[in-house]
Amino acid sequence: MCGIIGYAGTADNAFSVLLDSLEFLEYRGYDSVGMAIGNREGLAVYKDKGRVNELRKKIENAGIKGNYGIGHTRWATHGGVNKANAHPHQAGKVTLVHNGIIENYQELIERYDLRKKLRSETDTEVVAHVLDHYYDGDALKAIGKMVKELKGTFSFAIIFADQPNAIYAIRTVSPIVMTKTADCSILASDLMSLSSFSNDYYVLPELSILKMTSSEIRVYDLSLNEIELQAKHIDWQVEALGKAGYPFYMEKEMMEEPKAVEDTIKERIRNGLPDFESDALSDEVFEKLHSIMIVACGTARHAGLVAKQLFERVAGIHTEVEYASEFIYNEPNLHQDTLLIAISQSGETIDTLEAIRYAKKQNIRTLAIINVKGSTMSQLVDYPLFTNAGPEIAVASTKAYTSQLSLLYLLVGRAAYVRGTRTKEEVESFISNLQRAPGLMNQVLECKDQIHQIAKEAIDDKSLFMIGRGLDYLSLMEGSLKLKEISYIHSESYASGELKHGPISLIEEGTPVVAAITQDHLVSKSLSNLKEVKARGARVYAFVKESLIGNLDKDIRIIELPNADSDFMVFPTALALQLYAYYVSMEKGYDVDKPRNLAKVVTVE
Ligand code: G6P
Repeated sequence: MCGIIGYAGTADNAFSVLLDSLEFLEYRGYDSVGMAIGNREGLAVYKDKGRVNELRKKIENAGIKGNYGIGHTRWATHGGVNKANAHPHQAGKVTLVHNGIIENYQELIERYDLRKKLRSETDTEVVAHVLDHYYDGDALKAIGKMVKELKGTFSFAIIFADQPNAIYAIRTVSPIVMTKTADCSILASDLMSLSSFSNDYYVLPELSILKMTSSEIRVYDLSLNEIELQAKHIDWQVEALGKAGYPFYMEKEMMEEPKAVEDTIKERIRNGLPDFESDALSDEVFEKLHSIMIVACGTARHAGLVAKQLFERVAGIHTEVEYASEFIYNEPNLHQDTLLIAISQSGETIDTLEAIRYAKKQNIRTLAIINVKGSTMSQLVDYPLFTNAGPEIAVASTKAYTSQLSLLYLLVGRAAYVRGTRTKEEVESFISNLQRAPGLMNQVLECKDQIHQIAKEAIDDKSLFMIGRGLDYLSLMEGSLKLKEISYIHSESYASGELKHGPISLIEEGTPVVAAITQDHLVSKSLSNLKEVKARGARVYAFVKESLIGNLDKDIRIIELPNADSDFMVFPTALALQLYAYYVSMEKGYDVDKPRNLAKVVTVE
């Protein structure tokens, strides 16, 4: 959470570079924004609560000139949302911005006697004082000493008042990437802010110190020996970052979903079978398996729940799914031949990273499904597998989710083939069903107006239930998360059979209930559950596979989904429910891409 940026150039354009880059970083947090800009006359700080464009409007006509600076977009942790707590923070010669949490900041306040000096409630300002305490003109040494005092996660971009045009940085866990052009150097929390500068980038290793000027980037370890970094390459185009005429990124990203799934699977299918040779994932990993442990958060965890069903049923592998945030604290006892599969769009979610570290300490093999190349997770696991969804900017995850599913289905197919739980022909048929998923999703997009219409009926609802069975229940868990995230309607998903054990007491005249009915073998049971809620006055909307529609009562509002094998209906169902949540939020007039209190990349526990 929080996005940081640093820039050192030869031209006087730091102001516009920082503001433009902060807009790319805003998905990481958007309650406050700030920057420090330097020129020959000195350094000035501009900051406030609110969004980047609000700060831009306030200061864009002030004629601010500078050729270097640092910037920050905040997701509040320590201290409320106000100007004083916005970054940058300053102490003596030090000005810095921070992404992460310093857990021992209270201890540091006492140790360095800072109580009377602090002007904000943040852990970050404490660090500025500690660094200033050690700074005597040698920045590398001071940063090295400061960092030994800190407990927690961090990435800092730092300016020293007596070193114009130099930006320093250091990190643990929270990422920093940087790039260089002929006339500037730039660092950021993620690649999106760099992609308009260059397609080559470097990842700052943990606990290494970066010194960046307009002409060079140098990196040192904590013993102050210089480190040589390998350049990496961004393989998507900067155009992928625009809204392409859609009102929100979320809509654009849903429209891209069929292609994202196709791009994720197409290079990994050879002669009709899943193939992970290019990922350097050998069959031996599946052969040796005792069980799978999936760890993830939010939407990514929902993809894991679907995968669990299929790993168990198709590949015969005992599979568990844990919230990454609970995993390490439950101290699970893992069998040595467990494969830990982490799923994460960003590859930066701290809870998921911690779960991987826990498994690695126990010598458990780790595989991760990640969308962002160069992310911390991709460097941590034994087998990083990338979805090819391209940049996902809307906070609510859409194309990343279905791309994760598609990659998980390929893993299930390969595991089933290698372990012989399915014949070659059965696996080929499984994979050809998967190859049809993008087409099914295109069919859903063609009917989006119908979903828009029913979404309008939810805008005054305060509370809503989503019910289904089997894979439908799992799709609805994700649909329900999507709806509550962006429309602020209280929404709960239930396994339909569970209704009568409590939740049915909440159903009364007019209560909205959204159902999914796409699983052939569960249809009669799902219909009985629909009748139960209808009998109690519920207003029912059902997302139904076309071939099953004939089974439904005439008075139920039906949204038709295309026909496919039941195991593959998660693809069209997920997209239909995403569209539903999107239109509810849009009709309510919300900023769909930036829902309140949320951030796309969660780098705090
Ligand atoms: C945040 C995002 C969710 C996402 C979750 C896990 O809560 O808002 O959309 O599912 O983090 O993120 P990851 O990057 O690990 O998939």
